[in-house]
Amino acid sequence: MAAPDLNLLVPDPRPVPADDAEAALAELYRHEPGVVRANMVSSVDGAAWGATHLSGDLNDAADYRVFRVLRALADIVVVGAGTARTERYDQVARPDGLAHLAPSDAPLRLALVTRSGAVPPSTTVGDRPPLIITGSAGAEVARSVVPAENVLVHGTDAPDLRSALGELADRGLTRVLTEGGPHLLASLLAAGVLDELCLTTTALLEGPLPGRIVAGGEAMPQRAATLGHLLHDPAAHTLLARWIL
Ligand SMILES: NC(=O)c1ccc[n+]([C@@H]2O[C@H](COP(=O)([O-])OP(=O)(O)OC[C@H]3O[C@@H](n4cnc5c(N)ncnc54)[C@H](OP(=O)(O)O)[C@@H]3O)[C@@H](O)[C@H]2O)c1
Repeated sequence: MAAPDLNLLVPDPRPVPADDAEAALAELYRHEPGVVRANMVSSVDGAAWGATHLSGDLNDAADYRVFRVLRALADIVVVGAGTARTERYDQVARPDGLAHLAPSDAPLRLALVTRSGAVPPSTTVGDRPPLIITGSAGAEVARSVVPAENVLVHGTDAPDLRSALGELADRGLTRVLTEGGPHLLASLLAAGVLDELCLTTTALLEGPLPGRIVAGGEAMPQRAATLGHLLHDPAAHTLLARWIL
């Protein structure tokens, strides 16, 4: 079928030698300083996870390739504590073989957003404890697990995300990549601080039980998005979109 609305239609990236495909993706997904970008995956019918409650139920090789490139281009990965717990995040690192795409020599950082201040243990293994974005209600709990200078306190209960992103920028962490989850994505949208949504749609249907990529009670006015680009993996029927918000 013709796809006249696509401003970019690429063939299956998987037969392309890794360096070529990833260099092309790095150009397409260039991450400018100051841009807050989300990377999420969804099934065709809107599920954010599958039978095992993990996004790995949905993603595939093309999604993983973009996932790697987006991490390579970022200064910091920001995730909700729930996602870090469920997906067993470690301290994160530049993806193997992609160090040349990094914006600086500094290691990729991880920040967790939490109201409770409860830091998932998997994220503190290693020599780079995560930054914790929380309110004053969660600060003491967080400081009992990570060094005090790693705890960014903004607000009292749920943290003020705009203010927290300002502190990340003050620390030189200006290319922000969030990998969700759905509650954090909803909060970022409600706060009006998300600039881009990179959304992979894999050719699966999961039914009505899983949640969507946004969750929670925070309402937001309808917003329009424009398509930055759309990639197509015809072998797996996967669509990889970059939406500008
Ligand atoms: N499809 C995808 O791309 C994708 C991406 C990521 C995750 N997931 C899936 O999503 C599910 C988890 O969903 P979720 O909505 O629970 O994830 P989440 O947003 O990462 O986790 C929610 C928890 O994170 C903290 N949090 C998030 N936003 C916050 C905010 N604005 N202020 C304060 N704390 C905040 C809170 O932690 P505390 O309880 O510590 O206060 C909250 O209980 C998992 O099944 C995961 O696999 C899917």
